[in-house]
Amino acid sequence: MAGSMNEPVLEVRELSTSFFTDDGEVKAVRDVSFDLAAGETLGIVGESGCGKSVTALSILGLVPRPGRVVAGEILFRGRDLLSIDREELRQIRGRDIAMIFQDPLSSLNPVHRIGAQIEEAMRAHDKVAPRDVRPRGLDLLRQVHVPDAARRVRNYPHQFSGGMRQRVMIAMGLSNRPEILIADEPTTALDVTVQAQILQLLRDLNRDLGTSIILITHNLGVVAGLCSRVVVMYAGEIVEQGSTEQIFDAPQHPYTWALLRSLPRVDADRHERLRSIEGLPPDLIAPPTGCKFNPRCPFRLERCFSEAPELKPVGDGQVAACWVTMKRAYAEMGAGSLLDTRAGAASGVRPPAVPLPLAITGGSQTAGPEPLERE
Ligand SMILES: Nc1ncnc2c1ncn2[C@@H]1O[C@H](COP(=O)(O)OP(=O)(O)O)[C@@H](O)[C@H]1O
Ligand code: SF4
Ligand SMILES: [Mg+2]
Repeated sequence: MAGSMNEPVLEVRELSTSFFTDDGEVKAVRDVSFDLAAGETLGIVGESGCGKSVTALSILGLVPRPGRVVAGEILFRGRDLLSIDREELRQIRGRDIAMIFQDPLSSLNPVHRIGAQIEEAMRAHDKVAPRDVRPRGLDLLRQVHVPDAARRVRNYPHQFSGGMRQRVMIAMGLSNRPEILIADEPTTALDVTVQAQILQLLRDLNRDLGTSIILITHNLGVVAGLCSRVVVMYAGEIVEQGSTEQIFDAPQHPYTWALLRSLPRVDADRHERLRSIEGLPPDLIAPPTGCKFNPRCPFRLERCFSEAPELKPVGDGQVAACWVTMKRAYAEMGAGSLLDTRAGAASGVRPPAVPLPLAITGGSQTAGPEPLERE
């Protein structure tokens, strides 16, 4: 079972995945590398369309046509999932690596009872002894805090609320005691209260069972309470990676910084409109040359238009792909007082309707946005 805390259970190495469409090659994921340690909680964040789901689907061998992995390695306990046969991969999926999706209704079968579906997930693999399947199904529903589980186990999916269906999906995902749980936007469709409960549940599972978790979300706020490390993706690539503290307190990539500034703030006026990042992620068939974030970046230089920056160390275990980095943007480019953008920079960091304290605190040049509520 699980090894020591720092031994990686999953190593993604220079993964690239493309969709070969009539319009051209959509480079959905490019050169993505990260490790997941045993018992670790890793967040993958970025706006919609940045390649988060395709990364997860690539790990599980589920990239739909016309897509396919074009390069890289995905090592699960040292074995490359891209080169094992389909049957072996099918066994690993659901047994060792489980995935839960944003929309549980589309993943549940409407004509089968909840209990039967959880049991089926166990019968598909031989990890749970047949006589334990039924009691374990009930136990799992209790573990994910479905009230009155003994009765609810006989319900159909439509009799469950969105939050309860998501709990069922988590119960199914955990039914074979996987080493890794990949949760793709598990709370996006849920209201804030239920969202908090689901995140608490994932925290408990990580703590009590030692399950490694990859949490995929477009909302950086969601990763704060659960993940110890964060990978930030933009336009199919990793642009920054670091501990949660580093990412929140001293982000070094302008995109990470902009994502943080678009989060709702606990101290903000209730009527403040969020400063979303203006513009859209680029077309992945023909992305901008140089740094792909350059059309939206307020700190861009000449060089950003011609040369693509690579991931470089910017802190202890923190890497970012940027020619400037926020340390310099604060020191030389007035990032701390930037409530408006320079003409054409289109960062979307506009003056809010109600004046706010500046985003920089304490005068430190590397300080990030205001401290955020973590829980
Ligand atoms: N079936 C598909 N056909 C063509 N392109 C796709 C397909 N699925 C995803 N893509 C492309 O891959 C990119 C990454 O998608 P995805 O990983 O789903 O983003 P997200 O970060 O929102 O999860 C998208 O910008 C999209 O253009
Ligand atoms: S400063 Fe340049 S390299 Fe850095 S994010 Fe902006 S455009 Fe990209
Ligand atoms: Mg997605």
